[in-house]
Amino acid sequence: MGVQDDLLYEQLQDADAATVEAIVGLYRSAGWWDESSAEDARGRAVIPEMVRGSFCFLVARDVDGRIVAMARAISDRVSDAYIQDVVVLPEWRGRGIGAEMVRRLARFCSERRLAWIGLVAEPGTQAFYEALGFRALEQYVPMRFRGPAEPPAASGSSAAAVARPPADGAASPRTEPAP
Ligand SMILES: CC(C)(COP(=O)(O)OP(=O)(O)OC[C@H]1O[C@@H](n2cnc3c(N)ncnc32)[C@H](O)[C@@H]1OP(=O)(O)O)[C@@H](O)C(=O)NCCC(=O)NCCS
Repeated sequence: MGVQDDLLYEQLQDADAATVEAIVGLYRSAGWWDESSAEDARGRAVIPEMVRGSFCFLVARDVDGRIVAMARAISDRVSDAYIQDVVVLPEWRGRGIGAEMVRRLARFCSERRLAWIGLVAEPGTQAFYEALGFRALEQYVPMRFRGPAEPPAASGSSAAAVARPPADGAASPRTEPAP
């Protein structure tokens, strides 16, 4: 996908064993990999499918071909996309690589006329993304499913948290204009 400052930016279509290890190394460097958990043991095995299933799985390679950064977009491919897993190896940070990865992913999506490009910014990275054109969706809250909510207690207790639709009919952050 192009060369910049002796780095090769490449869209991965698949991941061999060496590539999987490089990707695991990037997740580890971001603190997003826990070898001891069953979920992450499975994670290593599914990385090739994550690469193949991504809308765009981008890596940056140094002159020796070593992967030093990754970022990916997941998408329905016609309307919406989410950018995630943006990581640069610590020794390569501060050289504009992370910004270039995000710019390339945003361009990849925009060129395919995707109107809604979102992401969940790690704490402390908001300014990084704002400089690239992203804006916080004020009052919206990033959420992750952690399992079914407990059913409400039968006898009027309010202790159990139960998911329910918003009272004002608001649907999703998609109602916010694209940045
Ligand atoms: C966040 C991360 C991807 C940035 O990559 P990077 O290659 O170091 O960033 P760049 O060198 O491209 O920085 C571009 C600009 O953003 C700024 N910037 C970098 N990280 C920043 C941060 N965390 N907060 C605010 N600004 C930041 C840089 O100072 C630079 O500003 P400049 O253009 O005025 O010089 C990298 O620090 C990283 O991998 N962190 C761990 C994983 C992570 O948190 N990823 C984000 C997931 S949401």
